[in-house]
Amino acid sequence: MSQNFPDNTLYEMDNLDVLRGMNSHTIDLIATDPPFNTKRNRSGSAGQYVDNWKWGDTGTLPDQWKWNEVHPKWLEEIKDNHTALYHAIDAAKHCQGQDTAAFLCFLSVRLIEMHRILKPTGSLYLHCDHTANAYIRMAMDAIFGKKNFRNEIVWCYTGPSNTTRWYPRKHDTIFFYAKSNSAKFNRDIVRIPYNAETLARRGRIEGNKSYISPSVETTKRRDPSQVNTLFGGGKIPEDWWQDIAVLTNQSERTGSPDQKPIKLYERIIKASSNEGDLVLDPFCGCATTIIAANTLNRRWIGIDRRKDARYHIITRLMGITKKERKRLEKYATDTAWLDKQTQPYEMHYQTEPPVRTDIEKPTSPTLAHVYPIQNEHQLSHAEMHTLLTDQFGIQCWGCNFIPPDKRYLHLDHIIPKMDGGTNDIDNRALLCQPCNTKKSNKMSLNALRRQNKQEGYTQHNPPIDLKAALTWTQKHLIQTILNPTHQLNLNTIMLKVME
Ligand SMILES: C[S@@+](CC[C@H](N)C(=O)[O-])C[C@H]1O[C@@H](n2cnc3c(N)ncnc32)[C@H](O)[C@@H]1O
Ligand SMILES: [Zn+2]
Repeated sequence: MSQNFPDNTLYEMDNLDVLRGMNSHTIDLIATDPPFNTKRNRSGSAGQYVDNWKWGDTGTLPDQWKWNEVHPKWLEEIKDNHTALYHAIDAAKHCQGQDTAAFLCFLSVRLIEMHRILKPTGSLYLHCDHTANAYIRMAMDAIFGKKNFRNEIVWCYTGPSNTTRWYPRKHDTIFFYAKSNSAKFNRDIVRIPYNAETLARRGRIEGNKSYISPSVETTKRRDPSQVNTLFGGGKIPEDWWQDIAVLTNQSERTGSPDQKPIKLYERIIKASSNEGDLVLDPFCGCATTIIAANTLNRRWIGIDRRKDARYHIITRLMGITKKERKRLEKYATDTAWLDKQTQPYEMHYQTEPPVRTDIEKPTSPTLAHVYPIQNEHQLSHAEMHTLLTDQFGIQCWGCNFIPPDKRYLHLDHIIPKMDGGTNDIDNRALLCQPCNTKKSNKMSLNALRRQNKQEGYTQHNPPIDLKAALTWTQKHLIQTILNPTHQLNLNTIMLKVME
């Protein structure tokens, strides 16, 4: 698939718009560190919808998510097209609460896009901490497939702690997923030296096995790098990393509390990409991933919604110290100054998202048709439920059961999604709970009706005329496409249904 955006570009905007605009299979590596849902900042727009998770233009980071900010259509879309992911979000909602579920929703819609834009040889590393890592792992298994899970890297560090009732929480988790089995992994490049003890032990073992291997004595006499070369250039680091300290280098510090050590991202980039590859960080912050990629001769794309994103990249490309950076801070959002500073660098700056040129051939499921250019014919679950009960009465289409009220009826797919059924109204039926469970995604509506009859579950009420129903729903679908104003706006009702 061809790349529809320039190399070495910073997009200063919400990453969802950018990710959505990127052609499929264009990125070699994503290494990213999203906000942690730590509830540090309470500003935001709680209490009202923000269509695609934009939090106004305050430029502040609302490290907190509210369930009532989750657009019902996102959730419906996830429920219809990404069943496993929906259950992961639901689990988070039940186990940790609505805010975590909302955060997971925010992250998941982005992860679906990240998964789509990765090349088959690509990988994604996602940095998180204890606040939501269990749920993020579930969501990632759902999106990437559990067979593509590679590692849960535990990055350990030390530092002051004021905890007295439990152990200080001093590690972050980095989930490493491959897009497929052909993902790159340069194990020989990331090898680290064996420690002296291992070297001595291995020297002895090898020495016994073969006369050309070094004995313990020769091992002691050689310098460590020589010895490490003898043993295959050192070892591949385990999945727990203790050898990278929190910002070792004072001159590396930018003053941003979110900043991660460059060494951490260098290891990731070296392991899972080659020179010339394209590295993306959709939550690039003060540009650690970008600087590491740039230094290692990779091409890069950074995205961040903060207003001073370019300032961070530029000042780090300039290699200036924290103190100098402080002095220049007054220019952080000064476009003229930033334009001038950007000139010497091979870097593009964008405030508009790319536009997909491969949209005809979507290569993996996306949420694209929730808010596509023309989304008007997409009815919400609540709208379809109301239309169908209004038109056909409160009755199960599977067993003819007439429940006390419409809450007993579920909106189901006539042809299961798995078998290519759509989410449109002409593929929808109303089912009672037992019919819904029985059908799940295993059979068509006709098969369910036959089975109910055989097993004696069909009620004596006159059945819904399926053929007539389909004719009506098809006509309705065409009408809404032709005349989008037919669509009711029931989002608020939808909210109540979700609760
Ligand atoms: C934890 S920080 C990343 C720090 C980075 N790893 C570094 O070392 O500099 C997360 C960043 O994500 C950005 N962010 C949060 N939501 C975003 C969104 N929807 N689109 C783009 N950026 C977003 C924030 O502005 C913040 O800078
Ligand atoms: Zn039924």
